[in-house]
Amino acid sequence: MSISEYKILVDRYLESCFIPSGHTYDKLLDSMRYSLMAGGKRIRPILALEFARISGGNINEILPIACAIEMLHTYSLIHDDLPCFDNDDLRRGKPTNHIVYGNWLATLAGDALQAEAFNTILKSSLAPDTKCACAQLLGEAAGVNGICSGQYLDMAFEGKPLTSAQLDEINLYKTGILLQASCEIGVTAAGGTEEQRKAAASFGAKIGMAFQIRDDILDVISTESKLGKTIGSDAEEHKNTYMVLLGQEGCEKKIRELTDSAKSSIQEIFQDTKQLESFAEALASRLE
Ligand code: IPE
Ligand code: IPE
Ligand code: MG
Ligand code: MG
Ligand code: MG
Repeated sequence: MSISEYKILVDRYLESCFIPSGHTYDKLLDSMRYSLMAGGKRIRPILALEFARISGGNINEILPIACAIEMLHTYSLIHDDLPCFDNDDLRRGKPTNHIVYGNWLATLAGDALQAEAFNTILKSSLAPDTKCACAQLLGEAAGVNGICSGQYLDMAFEGKPLTSAQLDEINLYKTGILLQASCEIGVTAAGGTEEQRKAAASFGAKIGMAFQIRDDILDVISTESKLGKTIGSDAEEHKNTYMVLLGQEGCEKKIRELTDSAKSSIQEIFQDTKQLESFAEALASRLE
């Protein structure tokens, strides 16, 4: 299956979730769906599905697990945009959730998406051990050794200069670990080997780091219509970014090294890595 076919499957599955149906709390569902269906690139579920495919898994059975990762990612974006975090008003080409629904409802939409991500995994049709392992991988990536600590460091060190090693740590936690977990979850859901899971983890962590470096570049050089989010937000919030630390040339070099190294982590472990390698290249040079 191609990357664009995965995206269609993911969009279709998510479209069927959280449908308002005459509940008194329908507006909560509206706000969850607003961000979920606003036009994300679906990178994390695509990674999970492609790793599942090359590990011999059944894509339709694993689709809910992949979509759960996108629910959790969407929660992290809604909260990341709130006035008490990055205070951004544009996301996925649309006004951010809190601009449309207000701060408390946006916060709740994020809370609900995070909980429903785990619910979606645990009620899937995979074997109990397999779905527990997937839920654990997602929990680790979302928790105190993942997105939450990454976001803590990102916020707490605003305006305070960091070394490159410290910035690597922030970016691994806030972004890299969820891409890493997405790759590992794909292998795990498909019943792949431990050696395959480790190779997927290494690939995911490296492309995840490269992805955040590209995100920092695009925050400076892209346009709002291409990127679908506010340009210059990092400088405005006095963030530590790779652009500040390394400049664009240094960033490009680091992205190249990480992408090459990511590709070589999987080449000898899986049979059919072509599509993942070209996806890693597309992410490394993305403009949106
Ligand atoms: C944005 O992630 C947040 C970062 C980790 C840099 P994406 O660029 O994958 O955002 P969507 O899901 O396509 O909106
Ligand atoms: C986002 O990092 C990381 C998470 C949402 C966990 P950024 O703050 O750089 O992401 P954008 O640029 O707002 O998408
Ligand atoms: Mg942020
Ligand atoms: Mg942000
Ligand atoms: Mg950014």
